[in-house]
Amino acid sequence: MENFAALVYLAAAVLFILALRGLSHPESARQGLLLGMTGMGIAILTTLMLPTVSGWFLIIPAVAIGGGIGTYIANKIEMTSLPQLMAAFHSLVGLAAVFVAAAAFYNPQAFGIGTPDDIHLSSLIEMSLGLAIGAVTFTGSLIAWGKLQGKISGKPVVFGGQHVLNAALGALLLVLIVLLCITESGVFFWSIALVALALGVLMIIPIGGADMPVIVSMLNSYSGWAAAGIGFTLHNNLLIITGALVGASGAILSYIMCKGMNRSFFNVILGGFGGEQAAGGPSMEGRSAKIGAAEDAAYIMKNASSVIIVPGYGMAVAQAQHALREMGDILKKHGVDVKYAIHPVAGRMPGHMNVLLAEANVSYDEVFEMENINRDFAQADVAYVIGANDITNPAAKNDSSSPIYGMPVLDVEKAKTVLFVKRSMGSGYAGIDNPLFYADNTMMLLGDAKKMTENIIKAFE
Ligand code: TAP
Repeated sequence: MENFAALVYLAAAVLFILALRGLSHPESARQGLLLGMTGMGIAILTTLMLPTVSGWFLIIPAVAIGGGIGTYIANKIEMTSLPQLMAAFHSLVGLAAVFVAAAAFYNPQAFGIGTPDDIHLSSLIEMSLGLAIGAVTFTGSLIAWGKLQGKISGKPVVFGGQHVLNAALGALLLVLIVLLCITESGVFFWSIALVALALGVLMIIPIGGADMPVIVSMLNSYSGWAAAGIGFTLHNNLLIITGALVGASGAILSYIMCKGMNRSFFNVILGGFGGEQAAGGPSMEGRSAKIGAAEDAAYIMKNASSVIIVPGYGMAVAQAQHALREMGDILKKHGVDVKYAIHPVAGRMPGHMNVLLAEANVSYDEVFEMENINRDFAQADVAYVIGANDITNPAAKNDSSSPIYGMPVLDVEKAKTVLFVKRSMGSGYAGIDNPLFYADNTMMLLGDAKKMTENIIKAFE
């Protein structure tokens, strides 16, 4: 049975890798998900059949209750709330790692890792790492959830000596792990848990709301490493492989997001970004913007030969993607060339815009990544910026005092006319003014993204 299980686990691991590959493109994402679900189904069934596994009467109801709650939440959740859902789920992975470590510590025979007075050294190390990473992930994810859900302020909480304190706690954790390995004392076991729980809170509170998606992805990575740690304790190869896959992909995702914002990962971790109205940038006081109506936008776009649509977070909030596709279809019927430009950090999570446009059946060959379309703005008649702000802000290119300086942005200002659909003249997630709102070739269309787009469609008729 053991050899058979090893073989099936290998097949499940291959399915997980293929799932990750599928998820890298909207076209293959559904298939990727199916492969991942199949792999997980096979893994769970095989584990249940292992001779070492007993207590089905507890496992089956637990899987049914957990699966039921998961299905209910997944069906109910809004797309814009996915980052906080991820954070909430990761907190549970962290907590599970803490529980498994405690179970292994108090009942080592059941895990085949020694006796209560003599646990194998390697198992003690694996267990304490799983415990520490799990506890950091648990409280860190809870704080991230609270910030994203608006349960606690998204503003960075910063105080003097914060980083020194965090470094000291990190060092204390290492000392406690060594002491646990030497003494096998429950006092050190629970001290590790307490210090790691505190570290999880202290690490995440200085980080502002705007950086939370990077942090969620980083915590995702931690939860993967915690799972890999549990895999070593449980002697379960598949859990080690799966944990490593989650750990590595989460880390790569965090890196991609940081690159999209031109920030270093270290800069994100140190926190303090995106809370208060950030300093820097020219004052917008006394400048006036051109405010237009849906009819004006309809007239301009109908007479254009090319329109580039730039979706952002506000399109997701307003769920304007279907109306947007309809508008694009009408324009195409009028002979207008329509393209969609996607910034790597548009919205609040990687691929946010791609998923919404795919949901509205926008053809993939009309959707372009930033580096493939930025040059086209100079030839475009209209840039239709819908619910996007920071990702178009030219301050990122020409104002070295701006907090987003250096972030690559879409060159929408190069289009003949820029139409901005948003509800107010307010700022985006980075909390800074956008000088483009006051540019000569900009017209502001103030209103909800979906309603405004629907009004434009009506005006076409
Ligand atoms: P933002 O800069 O946040 O701008 C979105 C704009 O949408 C807001 O200015 C808001 O203006 C408008 N809006 C909100 N609800 C609306 C509605 N119902 N109808 C119309 N407009 C609405 O978004 P962006 O341009 O997509 O940039 C993304 C930001 O998130 C960047 O700062 C990026 O660094 C950050 N971020 C993203 C990610 C990922 S992976 N995507 C990760 C980390 C950080 P009004 O309030 O005036 O309507």
